[in-house]
Amino acid sequence: MTDIVVHPLDKPLVGSVPVPSDKSIGHRALLLSSLCEGKSKITGFSYGEDNVSTANAMRAMGLVIDDVATSAGKAAGEIHVTGGGLFGLRAPNDALDCGNSGTTMRLLTGLLAAQRFASTLVGDASLMKRPMKRVVGPLRSRGAVIDGKPHPTKEGDLLPPLVVGPLPEGKHLEALEYESPVSSAQVKSAVLLSGLYAHGGTWFKEPTLSRDHTERMLHALGVPLRTMGTMIELDPGNWDGKMPAFDVAIPGDASAAAFLLVAAQITPGSRVTVRGVGTNPTRTGLFEIARHMGAGLEIVPQGDQAGEPIGEITAWSQPLRGVLVGGELVPRAIDEIPIACALAARASGTTTIRDAEELRVKESDRIATMAAVLRAFGVTCEELPDGLVIEGREGPLQPAEIASKGDHRIAMTAAVLALLGSGPSRVTDCDCIATSFPRFVGTLRALGARIDAAE
Ligand code: S3P
Repeated sequence: MTDIVVHPLDKPLVGSVPVPSDKSIGHRALLLSSLCEGKSKITGFSYGEDNVSTANAMRAMGLVIDDVATSAGKAAGEIHVTGGGLFGLRAPNDALDCGNSGTTMRLLTGLLAAQRFASTLVGDASLMKRPMKRVVGPLRSRGAVIDGKPHPTKEGDLLPPLVVGPLPEGKHLEALEYESPVSSAQVKSAVLLSGLYAHGGTWFKEPTLSRDHTERMLHALGVPLRTMGTMIELDPGNWDGKMPAFDVAIPGDASAAAFLLVAAQITPGSRVTVRGVGTNPTRTGLFEIARHMGAGLEIVPQGDQAGEPIGEITAWSQPLRGVLVGGELVPRAIDEIPIACALAARASGTTTIRDAEELRVKESDRIATMAAVLRAFGVTCEELPDGLVIEGREGPLQPAEIASKGDHRIAMTAAVLALLGSGPSRVTDCDCIATSFPRFVGTLRALGARIDAAE
């Protein structure tokens, strides 16, 4: 397992850099192109491990997914997916390994719920501890046959391995009206994917709007889906069940860009630009938080890509103030709360983050892990059941040794905070960064950071 040693910055971060393509959109492009008729082309595909887990799971069900070597090499990320229509999947020989990716496991559960074969979904140590009742519950209530392992502490919840299907001959998934207690794009997407196969409509509602990439892509593929605020209706009654193959270029990942942009916002004299970043409003909560805090940020719209708005984003350092973060902003910043804590650590006054209890069931318990990370750097903070209270501070941070807990976003947040240390800091177990941003260390180095890999 690789550790990294991050040295304090001796010059500002400056430059314009690329980020990997959006992980969430990448998963959806793979899943939906697999269900289309014919060959789809995905460009700018990220080879982040989470997206690769989805690709490999689809391959294990008979899909032909080719990596196309272009003159720019495999990193250019052109892949071709030959879809076999809604009923083109075949039974996998082994358990489907979703790696660290909750999105792979939960979206696949929705898709597999309608198949006439059984499949088993497993993942790494972190994923095997993540709650699955949130997707299993609604799918079962429309007739899916799914089993999991009883959760040892949360009564009624289920853990992987999940055994999904087979849907018995003569049975089909039924109509479903479901009001989700959590704002979760994974739950929403699992329900919608199952809805493609249902005999009857799907009506889904969530407390506040979570990322809407699935809705956008299904709509673009001609699936009869309508949205109104946080409500969705998918009524396949008059639909022929066919989706045409498509070409899609995946926008840059705002969640990856966030680490570089915040690094610029908290390190004196820095200025960093990232181009072609997805700016879908269901993903830009962090940028709104940063603006409230007074951070230097400019977003120049660059049109649309894959039915998603994109923009060029520049961030620079200027004084920050503490704010209150909560409500509908939280699902729109759900993966960025750890790096928002880095902004809070440098703001004058107190930042309070509420309504973020979902963070307790991410790749790690991100409330507890972030509290430990902040304290290790000498930042005063208090853990709340649903968030954190953080006292911002000036001056160099205490050098620290941070355990990433195998959580990519914790590892990257710690690396960013370490740029402000009074001496070198070590972040242990950083292989996890490759799940979403394989070139993170190289990109920070290109901006001027000094980071050594250590065994
Ligand atoms: C994702 C949804 C979010 C997010 C995750 C990716 C997706 O999870 O945290 O990293 O691609 O649908 P929840 O839907 O569980 O909030």
